[in-house]
Amino acid sequence: MVGGPHYTLRFGRKDGLISRADRVEGHYARTNMTISEIINLFSSINLSVQDLVALSGAHTIGFSHCNEFAKRLFNFSTTAETDPALNRNYAEGLRKLCANYTTNPGMSAFNDVMTPGKFDNLYFQNLQRGLGLLATDNALVTDPRTKPFVDLYAADQAKFFEDFGQAIQRVSLMKVKTGKHGEVRRRCDAFNNLQQPQDSNNKPQDSNKKKKNSSA
Ligand code: HEM
Repeated sequence: MVGGPHYTLRFGRKDGLISRADRVEGHYARTNMTISEIINLFSSINLSVQDLVALSGAHTIGFSHCNEFAKRLFNFSTTAETDPALNRNYAEGLRKLCANYTTNPGMSAFNDVMTPGKFDNLYFQNLQRGLGLLATDNALVTDPRTKPFVDLYAADQAKFFEDFGQAIQRVSLMKVKTGKHGEVRRRCDAFNNLQQPQDSNNKPQDSNKKKKNSSA
């Protein structure tokens, strides 16, 4: 549909039996993190700086809600209303789009302003021109550890596709669940059993119990 690299993934990866928002924090990158923090996060799961830049190329598709980048658009600093790293026209357009983001929190912008529906290397070329949407996108092109890879992928789409494919294949093999530690869901957004099963880190039906208590 959107194009992009071809890579093979193994069949049969099971879904976990626990899914709780309070277990997520600390395991994924946030837009207010520094590049050092993000590099450390990726490194903690054996992903290199080059993997980080290649995988960030996934922002060639999709969109982000205004609250994820509003800090760059309004009251950025005492001397600049918008982040000076943003292309001026782009910043102006985003300010209009996001003008009412607090009352209309659904407002969103494409991650790749040039070719939002196409998996290509324009995301990296955008970064070089101040057209990166998130502060962390922009940081990839300013930090000396990540910039060489941004420049490499901006110039060479085939290399981006190759490295993205290899990195995502390795991600797909992380923490594979076997036997009764996971299940193949019949619906991708729901456990096969209505009640959330227990694991060794959770008390039985912990979250369901809470729900029952609060509605009592
Ligand atoms: C490196 C640090 C990263 C940060 C800080 C980050 C942050 C974000 C944020 C804030 C959004 C918008 C969420 C929303 O408003 O709904 C987003 C969207 C997205 N991210 Fe990332 N991300 C990072 C890396 C990645 C990686 C490694 C991938 C995949 C390999 C990825 C794939 C995506 C996709 C596909 C979207 C669009 C989702 C949609 O349209 O619904 N991101 N990211």
